Amino acid sequence: MSKSTLRVPAEVRYADELERLRAADEAEKRPLPPGWRLSPRAVRSFIVGDPALQVSRKFYGDDPLVDRAVVTLLGRQALMLVGEPGTAKSMLSELLAAAISGTSTLTVQGTAGTTEDHLRYSWNYALLLAEGPTPRALVKSPIFQAMETGRVARVEEITRTAPEIQDTLVSLLSEKLLMVPELGPDELVGAQAGFNLIATANLRDRGVNEMSSALKRRFNFETVKPIADRAFEVELVSRQLAESLDTVPAKVEAPADVIELLVTAFRELRDGRTEQGTPLKRPETVMSTAEAVNVAHAAALEAAYFGDGRVGGGEIARALAGVALKDSTEDRARLRYWVDNVVRERAGGDPQWREFLTAARSAWD
Ligand SMILES: Nc1ncnc2c1ncn2[C@@H]1O[C@H](COP(=O)(O)OP(=O)(O)OP(=O)(O)O)[C@@H](O)[C@H]1O
Ligand SMILES: [Mg+2]
Repeated sequence: MSKSTLRVPAEVRYADELERLRAADEAEKRPLPPGWRLSPRAVRSFIVGDPALQVSRKFYGDDPLVDRAVVTLLGRQALMLVGEPGTAKSMLSELLAAAISGTSTLTVQGTAGTTEDHLRYSWNYALLLAEGPTPRALVKSPIFQAMETGRVARVEEITRTAPEIQDTLVSLLSEKLLMVPELGPDELVGAQAGFNLIATANLRDRGVNEMSSALKRRFNFETVKPIADRAFEVELVSRQLAESLDTVPAKVEAPADVIELLVTAFRELRDGRTEQGTPLKRPETVMSTAEAVNVAHAAALEAAYFGDGRVGGGEIARALAGVALKDSTEDRARLRYWVDNVVRERAGGDPQWREFLTAARSAWD
């Protein structure tokens, strides 16, 4: 994969960090769980960071959740990460798979069109017609491959898949066996040590409640919450903005007070109250940290290519419109209320908020 590839898997992007963690495991003679590439301690460090090994923090805000996730994957249960959109469920599952198995790409994307074949196996029809059901004609699903090689597979957005299809996973997870009757009566694949499954589910999608209790029993559920700590959120947005600007040739600077402004806006609208405690009407639209990063990035691009290279409150207000306003008239009224009351008051004493106010009033109508 080249440098200009838009998104490379975590194991490629952080190959150096993974190698340092592996070397540290070896130096400390830490035992590896069967089938794992790293020790549980190193997996944790990969996700929450280890300054001594120059390993960056990637997931902010809930270290005990990371510990519980690692412990779940050590055991017999599979891991289900549930939460609001944009709370880094997918990111966390990718990082866990990359650290534990060295690959995060054994992934099935759940959709309404997902079938049992996507979870088990299908056939290359040209070969199937030519030579019948031979091992060569078999097309293994990512889960099949993970079982065979003792790695972690991922199912993204599992609740978008019909419950009957989800239930295919029950036998895979309890018997840890996959049968291919077409190849012969004894053709079965037994999962190798190191196999496990991480699923993610979005609470705003069709309910996790519709999942069968048989399947629920096979999973330990962990709820991923939005970042509670404001300082963490500011740090995360600044860091991810800097990373995403690496590939932008134009020079651009995002001052700390502007990042503060952005994070304040998101937190107030997400929580439905101002930092001073005044209640607000919360917009329906998702105001997650992931969207905050997107807004910061869009604002920085505007400043880089159309402005003077310095991100200000005005760029933030214009970028926010695309994320927050979308097409709901109720949301528009809620945001308008926030601008006319909360932002207007702040604009008196703060030039960045003043810029924000002016831009919001002209861009949001
Ligand atoms: N606690 C957090 N730590 C690190 N990054 C976070 C955190 N919360 C949100 N993010 C941001 O969210 C982005 C990843 O979002 P991701 O797609 O993993 O969310 P998701 O929960 O899977 O969302 P969806 O439900 O829409 O699929 C990260 O790249 C990061 O910018
Ligand atoms: Mg996701």
